Amino acid sequence: MQSSKQIKIKDLVFHKFIDEKQIQRRVGELGQRITDDYSGSPLLMIGLLNGAVVFMSDLIRQTKTDVECAFIKASSYVGTQSIGTVRFSSLDDLQLKSKHVLIVEDIVDSGLTMNRLLPLMAQLQPQSIKICALLHKPANTKVNITLDYVGFEIPDRFVVGYGLDYDGLGRNLPHLYSLKS
Ligand code: IMP
Ligand code: MG
Repeated sequence: MQSSKQIKIKDLVFHKFIDEKQIQRRVGELGQRITDDYSGSPLLMIGLLNGAVVFMSDLIRQTKTDVECAFIKASSYVGTQSIGTVRFSSLDDLQLKSKHVLIVEDIVDSGLTMNRLLPLMAQLQPQSIKICALLHKPANTKVNITLDYVGFEIPDRFVVGYGLDYDGLGRNLPHLYSLKS
């Protein structure tokens, strides 16, 4: 059964967690902070596909300074529980030298994706690198990482909607939904 309070995707039932209006308000605030922080300096936002595509499309429209956009794709290959390898496609095509880079991510969970990406990007010699994540699960983050802009800190619960998926589905939902803990 589908209602806006509760949705079923494949075998799982998710409950409404963060409303579309709250998300849009927060994205507006983040865009304002980014606008203030980068005023006068052109900015390159790099979104991580596929999850960040919805967030990034809203965020760029809330950022009132010169913004270029690019996307890279991250894929994780988890061998054992503690060691995950993340690979990135299209990273070599990016021209980052002397640019202000803002990485845009849907969610930082263990932090391994960002931890792997940051040194690879640093090799391309940008002028600065910052991270903007819509969601952060601090209780799960295993690495020491600075998130410059965070939309919402959330508990360790699986979430879908607004770009985030469960088994490929749910990205088009305007609200965020979570599994009951
Ligand atoms: P990390 O490397 O553990 O920080 O993983 C980040 C990636 O895991 C995100 O970009 C998402 O693709 C995925 N992920 C982590 N938590 C969730 C969730 O609750 N829902 C959907 N995807 C998630
Ligand atoms: Mg992702």
